Amino acid sequence: MDTGEKILIVTGSDYTDAVYKAFNDVKELGHKVYLLSDGSFEPRPGVFEKHFSYDLRKTKEVLDYMTNQPEKFDAVTIKTSEWLTPLVALLAKQYGCIGNEPIVAFNCRSKYHMRKELEKGNVPIPKFKLCKNYEELVEGIREIKTPCVAKPVGGNASYGTFMIRDEKDLENLKENYENSIKFLKEKAIDGDVFAFKKEEMDLIGVDDHVDMITDYLVEEYMDGHEISIDSLIQNGKVTMMGVEDQIRMTYPYFMQLAARLPYIYEEGEKDVIQKLLEDTMKAMNIKNSATHTEIMFTSQGPKIVELGCRIGGDDLHETILEVTGYNLMYESMMIALGIHREYDVQTKCHTMTTVIMPEKTGTIKSINIPEELKNNKNIFNIDTIVSVGDKIGTPPERFDYIGYISGKGTTPEEAEKNMNKGIKLLKITIE
Ligand SMILES: Nc1ncnc2c1ncn2[C@@H]1O[C@H](COP(=O)(O)OP(=O)(O)OP(=O)(O)O)[C@@H](O)[C@H]1O
Ligand SMILES: [Mg+2]
Repeated sequence: MDTGEKILIVTGSDYTDAVYKAFNDVKELGHKVYLLSDGSFEPRPGVFEKHFSYDLRKTKEVLDYMTNQPEKFDAVTIKTSEWLTPLVALLAKQYGCIGNEPIVAFNCRSKYHMRKELEKGNVPIPKFKLCKNYEELVEGIREIKTPCVAKPVGGNASYGTFMIRDEKDLENLKENYENSIKFLKEKAIDGDVFAFKKEEMDLIGVDDHVDMITDYLVEEYMDGHEISIDSLIQNGKVTMMGVEDQIRMTYPYFMQLAARLPYIYEEGEKDVIQKLLEDTMKAMNIKNSATHTEIMFTSQGPKIVELGCRIGGDDLHETILEVTGYNLMYESMMIALGIHREYDVQTKCHTMTTVIMPEKTGTIKSINIPEELKNNKNIFNIDTIVSVGDKIGTPPERFDYIGYISGKGTTPEEAEKNMNKGIKLLKITIE
């Protein structure tokens, strides 16, 4: 293989030390790394050959903007930004690079299209129904029957996702639905969730158009505990890199509260999960990509909650690095470059991560992360995704979280103890 390939990285947010290390390691191999971002941050100096910045919500415009640049790329990839995966696929296609087909990325973005592909591939999923307005939502609930879940087709971080237990919950349905859409529309302006234009869906090859914000999916309620799996797929071979045991809110919202990594398998479970993942990737036609998949262990066996063709969000990149020593950003670039990789995934430590949730709705007045916490070797991933002055709140009005913090140890218990010590030192005030 030639050295000195040009790699384009697409992102909606800045990176951690470990991710910058991956870029520097790839540069050490003689490659050049370029960045395409939405301009919301200034990347660290000296890392990227060039920084292109554009409003990344405008998929078609970004493609044209990049086409008009003198640089052409040998690889295009992404870390986590879920909403940008179709753009990454379109760019990869434009330059003739290894990656997901645009329609494959779109099928991961739209939960409705995802369900249709998984159904075609005979992958176990809950019953589902697309609902384009409030009236259809009511009908959808009647058809799927309670208990069921309503979620936006283009959502992430469980924004606007809620459960309908029984007839009684229909009383709050309109309010819940309207609150959620209002929040999602606000997020669409902020950049986190957005709809594709008709011409953009045509460009991607979507035959059944959806609105990422106002279209909802009603799904049969799955009862059971939930895990997420970050896996790497190279030439169709699926390797599990990190399996996370999730702790989420209970009725009626589903925001994630905490997680343990690695997940401790029950007898025979690992093979079952591996097989389910392989069937899922085949059904979705994912051949060369990082993926983040969520699975629920229901009484009828494990079912797919959803998946993304990208690395898991929040702490996962750092946590998997702590636990296994593998840097998923580096591995994603290797896959995008077509460099054959072999993995030997071992557990080096146990971790527990807590999502820092606001205890009330208000405005962030101060965030204080003391030095003692930053220097604690048993604590990592102290990250806040909000800033002083930000408006934040709890469901049903808002679906915000402040950040997360992870503890590690030689056992899951020790990791939890360390995390608990750490979180006590964190001072955040909301007014
Ligand atoms: N059919 C279902 N039955 C039970 N719970 C569900 C169902 N669909 C979604 N959930 C719960 O809601 C959460 C969010 O749904 P989903 O993963 O589809 O959307 P998301 O917004 O991408 O979420 P996140 O980013 O939090 O993973 C799931 O992790 C799960 O806990
Ligand atoms: Mg999810």
